[in-house]
Amino acid sequence: MTIAADQKVALVTGANRGIGYETARLLAKQGIHVLATARDAQKGQLLLERLDGEDLSISTFPYEASDPASAQALFKYVQKTYGRLDILVNNAGIAPDQWQSGFQLSTDVFKQVMEINVYAPLQLIQLFMPLMKQQGYGRIVNLSTELASLTNSEMGSTLAYRTSKGALNTLTKLLALELKEYPDIKINAAAPGWCKTALGGDDAPRSAEEGADTVVWLATLDDNGPSGGFYRDRAIYPW
Ligand SMILES: NC(=O)c1ccc[n+]([C@@H]2O[C@H](COP(=O)([O-])OP(=O)(O)OC[C@H]3O[C@@H](n4cnc5c(N)ncnc54)[C@H](OP(=O)(O)O)[C@@H]3O)[C@@H](O)[C@H]2O)c1
Repeated sequence: MTIAADQKVALVTGANRGIGYETARLLAKQGIHVLATARDAQKGQLLLERLDGEDLSISTFPYEASDPASAQALFKYVQKTYGRLDILVNNAGIAPDQWQSGFQLSTDVFKQVMEINVYAPLQLIQLFMPLMKQQGYGRIVNLSTELASLTNSEMGSTLAYRTSKGALNTLTKLLALELKEYPDIKINAAAPGWCKTALGGDDAPRSAEEGADTVVWLATLDDNGPSGGFYRDRAIYPW
């Protein structure tokens, strides 16, 4: 797919369903070209078919977050195809220990969650940062959760998922501090709220589209927008 010379390029991981899908769709609706990743080509094709008829500038590429080589391939594809990346949304995530006791958590599961929810987003940020620095522009959004807020945590459980998102929050803040000399590169964490998705379940009060609102807002911040923060409903949320 050819894109216009002045068209921004966004990458959204885990975009074949849920909040990632809605984020990709809403960004593309703003005229941004979206590279929406899915774990395999078939899921990517289904994603494009679902969006068929909406007249959006969107394409897909396979990305498996547990495989560092997959991130490398994704980076090379973006570099060769677009030569730039304006927006990176680290959305792909897992929560296999939902509501489980931390005392029963297997360390293998803990490692897997850290791999997908923390190491993989960091790898993508590290890969794409030179491009963003070169172009002097970048918006990075890391999908977090209010369950990671230590200030607001009054209930235990879900240790792996919440610790991983807490680490993602810390990483967001610390990388933003390292980017002080690049004010046009902004990196923030978004809590979408409890949304009806495979991860959130059917009892969730919000739609995936509602959850994507703060993500899209952070992905399209203007020059005066914040960096290094944790946001829910377009407002600061306590770490
Ligand atoms: N839903 C909520 O209430 C809620 C609340 C707070 C935060 N969040 C966060 O929002 C993000 C999206 O959640 P969601 O509710 O939309 O979840 P979801 O419906 O389960 O979708 C998760 C997405 O991540 C992808 N993914 C999972 N493991 C992957 C891997 N190893 N490699 C590449 N992609 C992988 C999935 O691909 P497959 O389809 O191939 O599995 C899917 O596209 C997550 O980071 C989550 O922690 C969600």
